[in-house]
Amino acid sequence: MEYVEFTPDERELADLELLLSGAFEPLKGFLGHDDLHSVEERGTLADGTPWPAPVTLHLPDQAGPGDEVTLLDPEGLPLAVVTVTGQGATGPLRSLNPPEHGPFARLRRTPERVRAELGGRETLAVTMRGPLDDLGEVVATAKELGARILLLPLAYGEAGPAVVRAALKAKNQLPEDTLVVPVPLAPREEPELDLELREHVATAYGATEHLAGPEPVKIPGPPHRRGLVVFFTGLSGSGKSTIARGLRDALLEEGGRTITYLDGDVVRHLLSKGLTFSKEDRDLNIRRIGFVAAETARHGGLAICAPIAPYARTRDEVRAMVEGVGADFLLVHVATPLEECERRDRKGLYAKARSGAIPSFTGVSDPYEEPDDADLTIDTTHLSIEAAVSRVLDTLRAGRWIR
Ligand code: ADX
Repeated sequence: MEYVEFTPDERELADLELLLSGAFEPLKGFLGHDDLHSVEERGTLADGTPWPAPVTLHLPDQAGPGDEVTLLDPEGLPLAVVTVTGQGATGPLRSLNPPEHGPFARLRRTPERVRAELGGRETLAVTMRGPLDDLGEVVATAKELGARILLLPLAYGEAGPAVVRAALKAKNQLPEDTLVVPVPLAPREEPELDLELREHVATAYGATEHLAGPEPVKIPGPPHRRGLVVFFTGLSGSGKSTIARGLRDALLEEGGRTITYLDGDVVRHLLSKGLTFSKEDRDLNIRRIGFVAAETARHGGLAICAPIAPYARTRDEVRAMVEGVGADFLLVHVATPLEECERRDRKGLYAKARSGAIPSFTGVSDPYEEPDDADLTIDTTHLSIEAAVSRVLDTLRAGRWIR
């Protein structure tokens, strides 16, 4: 038997909290293979207990049957232990530490405590992912049922705190004894399953009646106020850095946006100093760039990145990171062919790569996966730098990121 430690992803951690608090009663742990299959086929666990939606944990590869897996929060605090019982399956969870809750932690309570507070009264629970626009309906329904109102803001992800604020605001206009309890329930893809899961959770908190609040209406700010990451990818010597620098300078001349510039070679002097050109290190380099770019964009900034970024999956990860903070991601493929990059060989690196002096050189002795999802493709073979920069600026103008 081995002891494995790992940090589940955001959705899994949210589910873990609900499993530990009892909000996912009667589940005692994440669904194993059999239960999952049964939930998907019949909407019940393998033993026939009704359960609407998958609640799964993606175990690390090294965890095998019999192993004990400790689940850590992102800061390394052990939250719970599970034993791997079979292929992808885990036994019941044993709690180690209560999860750190973040914003509005003081409002969170276990379903058991909320049920005790409600004292067995008729309760109308309203699960919310956005502001309630029809409080009249809530009040009328509660009155009709003679029920207390329990607002359950489903606080998950970036919008989580805003949903709790919306619930607190609504509470001010609802009867005195209205309760607000944030629940970290991540949305499920299928709307029907999502609704059923919301109902299950509301029931665990003591609801005798459930009202699903409106879905969030996303009103993104205008593009010129939203965060943006312009991510150049291409071979060494393709012209990425030169175009990226030209873009940076043009944007600075225009004014109106703050710029963070993350060139591949520049990043490797500090942020990624010491990393090699192995696949693992290249991926780590790109993730670091993506992390900084996403943080910049989270605050409405514009980040320009220009690493080789040879792997499609890693570029996808960066796109997801950026879009995950509500910002936009623009992939620019500088598609100057290898022959042309090698003919120019401004840094003399291709000659060294051909002679074997530099091993695993992208395009020569290491892969470059051409993007099939580029928002703009530029081949600089017969194009001046000014013209290339203009094409990027045109794209930014067309998308209204700059005016
Ligand atoms: S990436 O693969 O991790 O995205 P990055 O953009 O940071 O690469 O670094 C590429 C730069 O490092 C190239 O422009 C080149 O100057 C230099 N370099 C040194 N060794 C290699 C190599 N084996 N492959 C590619 N570039 C290399």
